[in-house]
Amino acid sequence: MMTTKSGEQRNALMYLLPIVIQDEKCLFFMARDVTELKRAVDDRIDFEKQLLHAQKLESLGVLAGGIAHDFNNLLMAIMGNADLALMRLNPESPAVDNLKRIEQASARAADLAKQMLAYSGKGKFVVEHLDMSRLLEEMLHMLEVSISKKAVLRFNLMHPIPSVEADATQMRQIVMNLVINASEAIGDKSGVIAITTGCMDCDRNYLKDVWLDENISAGLYVYLEIADSGCGMDKATMTKLFDPFFTTKFTGRGLGMAAVLGIVRGHKGAIKVYSEPNKGTTFKILLPASDRPAELFNGHTHTDDWKGSGKVLLVDDEETVRGIGREMLQELGFTVITADDGREWVAAFKENPDVAFVILDLTMPHMDGEQCFRVLKQLKPDVKVMISSGYSEQEVSIKFVGKGLAGFIQKPYKLSVLRDAVRGIL
Ligand SMILES: Nc1ncnc2c1ncn2[C@@H]1O[C@H](COP(=O)(O)OP(=O)(O)OP(=O)(O)O)[C@@H](O)[C@H]1O
Ligand SMILES: [Mg+2]
Repeated sequence: MMTTKSGEQRNALMYLLPIVIQDEKCLFFMARDVTELKRAVDDRIDFEKQLLHAQKLESLGVLAGGIAHDFNNLLMAIMGNADLALMRLNPESPAVDNLKRIEQASARAADLAKQMLAYSGKGKFVVEHLDMSRLLEEMLHMLEVSISKKAVLRFNLMHPIPSVEADATQMRQIVMNLVINASEAIGDKSGVIAITTGCMDCDRNYLKDVWLDENISAGLYVYLEIADSGCGMDKATMTKLFDPFFTTKFTGRGLGMAAVLGIVRGHKGAIKVYSEPNKGTTFKILLPASDRPAELFNGHTHTDDWKGSGKVLLVDDEETVRGIGREMLQELGFTVITADDGREWVAAFKENPDVAFVILDLTMPHMDGEQCFRVLKQLKPDVKVMISSGYSEQEVSIKFVGKGLAGFIQKPYKLSVLRDAVRGIL
């Protein structure tokens, strides 16, 4: 390394060679400026590292998404059967407790599948124009009961705030994961978790040291900042923070931040992290601001005794899902016809064109939900179709926009969720 007169640091390659000129011993000295060469080599190494990292992330994502998908179908059968058994059993029965434990364990498994799905970037289903400040206000109670009693929650929310195009369920998942981490970092001590929302113009320079700056462009961003006064992180932890299954906790699974990363990537956002050991941590999630006003959240009404009537066609390639789906729909008062994605479902529909609605699985091997949907609409343009899926890519759900899809239900679902979804389309 050499410093030039102007103080600029340059890399130089130097040669020193003893030589003899006319019987006199001399030293031959040569220096070559290799600053540009070194920079090019460093850039190339950086690029290769990034590429390798991106490939690793991609294959982990595919793996996580695949497992989550199969998991969801299995959970559908476990949760659905426990749900129905609980309904049919005498409330005094000693088996009620066991069934409730099955329900609790499968809810935890569904949560795990949800984190994996989020990491794989395949869990974004319903995109709305969201007001992040309002979303947080609605979560206040849930957050208060989820954090340690020693932690104080402080809100500092911007009103009004530009909307973001996002999936509300996934935004809640981000907030939950970050706030739980903040509370765990505070531990048994007293501390503060400050949640701030706002909006800022980000230039390329500001976006330089963020996570996921691959396709991020300068512009207006809505931010969500979650700061805690907890234990903070050292450099080594910071570099592994977003790796799936990286955890420093005894009971941790290491999927929380991986899911946050997957969701933010799916929303074309970015993450900034500031942390110092023993001082605390701040996560700043940046999401592109939209110029459309926010929509109202879909409110759910809850009456548990609702019943429907008529015929329903349920198309799914998984036999377990068909089995439990049939029982749930029968419980809701419907006559159920089931079919897999082969030829039989078309025949079944032609024989029963008067079905009240059709439930289609989105990912099936022979003919996927989208193709089935097209065929159904050709056969009967006003047919009501609900898509069900354990996982899907955002682009797939976009394919249905404007095509008259009646509804969507995410697997695994409980009877009460199915009831709300069906009531919503009839
Ligand atoms: N706010 C924070 N303060 C200090 N360390 C943190 C914070 N958030 C995350 N970390 C560190 O990053 C690691 C990974 O976090 P992540 O949420 O992915 O997994 P986890 O919390 O250990 O387990 P899980 O969320 O799956 O239950 C944590 O184990 C912890 O070491
Ligand atoms: Mg966590």
